[in-house]
Order: sequence, then structure tokens, then C-alpha cells
Amino acid sequence: MYFASDNWAGAHPLVAERLVKAAGSYSVPYGEGQTDRKVQKTLSEIFERDVSVFFVGTGTAANALSLASLARPASVIFCHPRAHVMHEGGAVELMTNGGKLVPARPCGPGASKIDPEGLTKAIAPYLSTDASVGNRIAFTLSQATEAGTIYSVEEIAALSSVAHSAGLKVHMDGARFSNAIAALGVTPAEMTWKAGIDILSLGGTKNGCWCAEAIVFFNPDDAAALPVLRKRAGHLFSKSSFISTQFDRWLENGLWLDLARHANGMGEKIAAAVRASGHARLAWETGSNQQFAIMSDEAAAAIRAAGATFHDWPAPDGFDGLGPGEAIRRLIACFATTDEDVERLAALL
Ligand SMILES: Cc1ncc(COP(=O)(O)O)c(C=O)c1O
Repeated sequence: MYFASDNWAGAHPLVAERLVKAAGSYSVPYGEGQTDRKVQKTLSEIFERDVSVFFVGTGTAANALSLASLARPASVIFCHPRAHVMHEGGAVELMTNGGKLVPARPCGPGASKIDPEGLTKAIAPYLSTDASVGNRIAFTLSQATEAGTIYSVEEIAALSSVAHSAGLKVHMDGARFSNAIAALGVTPAEMTWKAGIDILSLGGTKNGCWCAEAIVFFNPDDAAALPVLRKRAGHLFSKSSFISTQFDRWLENGLWLDLARHANGMGEKIAAAVRASGHARLAWETGSNQQFAIMSDEAAAAIRAAGATFHDWPAPDGFDGLGPGEAIRRLIACFATTDEDVERLAALL
């Protein structure tokens, strides 16, 4: 029973099958192959406008290079205090040549989101023309968030509006983009550029691919620096077609959404099991494949001993829902989670 993260499962058989087929053919290297171009076209159709697409191997590279493409001397980037970009080993800071990540006040379920007021307050000191504050360049938000919650399209639009008014570009960390689309039931265009998103890190790895991430620019002019930045970062794969081939199958016939719906559905079943259990309770509601349960250390140890994997999750600042000897545990479902997995967990709970 693997509930530790959505990157523990291998790859969906249909993606694997397509890769095996691709392994038997030739392709122009370095992102210029037929499949690379095909996926760029498919993504332009899916997003309902011409997008510039750059394949990379990790979500960390997608985030850091997205933000690096906007960099200026002493770049300032606003984000959630627990955003993944804050914990990427200094990748954003390195690739933006010493950029600074400035956290905005968190709010909402599990203190997982940022609201326009918190973002406005975080930006305010950086509106100064004093050279010492550096150059503000971007606001980045994660969708779905690291705590499993999902911004509505209206929330994204309101945040983008604050960011754009302050002269910032808006980046979305979409490591779990498909889970958010599946949960909201909106179109990819509605959740991105129509709501003010300028650059997207589109993640396939957590939802059925082996390692397939893409940087999607909604304004191709913003992408001017990316080719060199990606090469310098070592993320221009010569056999880039192995990344685009994964996306090609993943995007075909809505597989990406089917897998995300499955993962979210399994997440809902985990939530139901927690609610029905005498030994755990939900820390907050998410509506996605990521669930957060409060359990005693004793209960967590017993369930782990019976074969379930899951991580402990630090309580958000100010969270007062924990009793003595209790902690928050993150339970994640993915494209490969089965009913049996969840039933076994439910029985253990
Ligand atoms: C929200 C979010 N963004 C980015 C990443 C980074 O992905 P990778 O581990 O492929 O660098 C992760 C990985 O856990 C993540 O959860």
C-alpha cells in the first residue's frame, strides 16, 4: 500500500507501451523531432492558443527554468511559504543568479493558499524604487497546492490581477495540474492564461509518466531566454523524444484526465475511510488525490507495520487541531492506486 507520494508508482502501461514502440525508431534529437513538434501542437490545441513548449526531466527544473526565464539582477519572486520552489535545494536561487523567494502570508484550509490581501502585503515593500529591494519579477503558485487543496479559477484570476498590477509575471507549478483540472472540471485554458497565468510547469511524472515535465509559455515572447538556460542547466535531452513520446500518449484520448480522475477518486475514498474511522480524522478537506489525516503516533506505527507507506506532514503554523501524541500524515493516491489498496487501509484505520 503506497500512499507516500504520487511519484512512487512506475508508469501507466499505455505510456510504457508507446515508449517501447518509440525505442525501435529514429528521431531528430534535441527537441526537434516529429513527436516533440506534435506534442507542441497538441498542447496548443488543448490550451486553445499557440504555446511554446520546452521539455525537461524534472519538476524542479521546470520551476527553476520558468522563473529563470524572467530573471533580472536581484530577482524577487513571491510564493507560498511552503511552496515546493522553497524546497528545491536552491535551484530557483541558482538558476535566477541569486534570486530571492519572498513568502506571502498563507491562508485557507491547511494554510495552503495565498489570497490577494496576503500577496499585496508581501509585494508592498518591493514596490520601492530603492535599488536595495532588487527587481520584482514573478509570483508563483502551485495548482494543486502542496496541501492538496485547489485554487478556483476565480481565486487564480484575483491573484494574477494583483501580481500583474505590480508588474509581475505569474507562474503556475503544475506538478499536479491534471488533478486540479479533473477536480475543477474547467478547461486548461480557463485555469491558466484566461485566469492570468503566463508560464506553466506541466507535470506528467506524478500522473502516469516516467519522467515527463514541460514548461509551457502562453506568451512565446517570454520564452526567448529559455533555450540557452535549459541547455546550460543540462536539461536539453538529446533523446528528448522519449519525454515527448510520454506526453504524446498521456495526452491522447484524454488519458491524462482519466488517470487524474482515478487518482482523485481514490483520494476521495481515502478521505471517506478516514472520516469513517475511529482512529483518524481529516486535518482539512482537499477534494484531490492528496489527503491529510490526523493520527496518533501509535496508530501510524501500527498501520506502517502492516505495510502502508505514508509521510508525516508538518502542521501548518497556527494549526491547533492536534491532540497529545498526534501528528498529520499525508496519504496520497495516484493513477495506480487500487480499490483493494484503499480497502486495506480502511480496514487498518
Ligand atoms: C508541487 C511540486 N512541485 C514540484 C515538484 C518537483 O518535482 P521533481 O521531484 O520532479 O523535481 C514536486 C515534487 O514532489 C511537487 O510536489
